[in-house]
Formats: sequence, C-alpha cells, structure tokens
Amino acid sequence: MRRQNPAPVHGPFNAVARDCGAMIVSVRDARASERDRLWIEGVYRDYLDDLTPATATGMFPALGEVGHREPDQIARWFGDRNAFPLVIMQGPEHVGFAMVARGSSQPAQPHIDYRMAEFFIARPRRRLGIGRVAVQLILNRFAGRWEVSEFQRNTPAVTFWRRVVAAYTQGKYQERLFNDEVRQVFDSGPARAP
Ligand SMILES: CC(C)(COP(=O)(O)OP(=O)(O)OC[C@H]1O[C@@H](n2cnc3c(N)ncnc32)[C@H](O)[C@@H]1OP(=O)(O)O)[C@@H](O)C(=O)NCCC(=O)NCCS
Repeated sequence: MRRQNPAPVHGPFNAVARDCGAMIVSVRDARASERDRLWIEGVYRDYLDDLTPATATGMFPALGEVGHREPDQIARWFGDRNAFPLVIMQGPEHVGFAMVARGSSQPAQPHIDYRMAEFFIARPRRRLGIGRVAVQLILNRFAGRWEVSEFQRNTPAVTFWRRVVAAYTQGKYQERLFNDEVRQVFDSGPARAP
C-alpha cells in the first residue's frame, strides 16, 4: 500500500488507495459532494438494520450514536466540526461510509484522539477486503490514539475489528470487554502503517 503523507484533518480528504481485487479503494471527505451525502442517506437504513440483530434495540450501544431518525443523525454528523463523514469508493462506485469523531465516547478516556463512530460496507461488496483497506487508509490519515467499540453480539464486527486492528498494529493494541462492548485502543500513524 502506498503510504500517506500526514496532512491536516481539516479540508478535503482523498486518501490514495490500494488495489482490492480489480479496483482501487479510496476514501474521501463526504462533505465535499452532495452526491456522497445522498449515498450515505440511501444506505443508512441498511446500516441500522445490520446493527439491529446484534443489539436488539437498533442502537449501537458502544457509542449511542445511531438509532435516531436517520436524517437527523446524518445532519448531526455533517454539522459537527468534530466529526468526519467519509465515503469509501471502489473505483468510481460508492461502497461504504465511515464516521470518524474526535475523542472518546467515554468521558473518562481523555487520551483518545479519534474513534470510529460508524463504519459500513455495502452488503454486495463485503468479504472482499474493502473494509480492511479502507480502515488502513483512515487510520493512516487520522494519526493518533484510537478507540473502536463494537457490541459483543455483533460477532462479524468483533471479528472484523480484531483482525484489522491486530494486523495494522502488529498486535500492539489493548482490548477490553465492558458492558457487553468490546473496545480496542491503539495508536495509528505512519509508524504503524503496514
Ligand atoms: C463488518 C464490516 C464492516 C466488514 O467489512 P468487509 O469489507 O466485509 O470486511 P473485509 O472483507 O475487509 O474483512 C476483513 C476480515 O474481517 C473478518 N470478517 C469480515 N466480515 C466478517 C464476517 N461477516 N464474519 C466473520 N469475519 C468477518 C475476516 O477475518 C475478514 O478477512 P477474510 O475475509 O480474509 O477472512 C461489514 O460486514 C459491515 O459493514 N457490516 C455491517 C455494519 C457493521 O456491523 N459495522 C461495524 C460496526 S462496529
């Protein structure tokens, strides 16, 4: 994978990508284009539905950041200066989105720079390695101390994040189980980039 130069987190973000099958995967700031925001709005219900079986409530209890009415929630993300809505592309096509937020979801964790508040790959594009590549691009771009949380019963998400974080950090991460949430804490940046 081509390494990213550190860059300020404000302003357009268009990560250079890596081959994933026949196409290049890339990540960019969704605020730059109305089309990107509309795509997120179009798949947000799928995302909530994917979380629902794991939580039985429709909430993402690790963060409490989904489960509101979709338009309200998306508007909140796009209006929050401490949030970074991102779209994930495979070639010219939208295949996923991520919401990166500053700081921890836990007030008692002041040392966290970023958390992955939401992460989604469209159903037909799963198990192709796209999520893994997108996470690498995002972690390189937002260098710092990270927190990722997933509901323990969302076993695909737990497996995914364990695999991706373990590979990215070469096993140098902390994991805790707290209130049915699995939480990984680790450092990202050029020194960690695979
Ligand atoms: C979880 C999710 C992001 C994974 O995205 P993806 O692009 O399919 O993941 P990848 O193909 O990059 O998978 C990387 C590795 O994660 C693991 N993994 C991914 N999906 C998995 C699943 N459903 N079951 C078990 N392991 C899985 C595998 O080890 C996989 O490597 P492999 O395919 O070589 O075995 C995607 O399934 C998704 O969007 N789910 C719904 C929303 C969600 O739960 N988001 C996370 C909230 S915390």
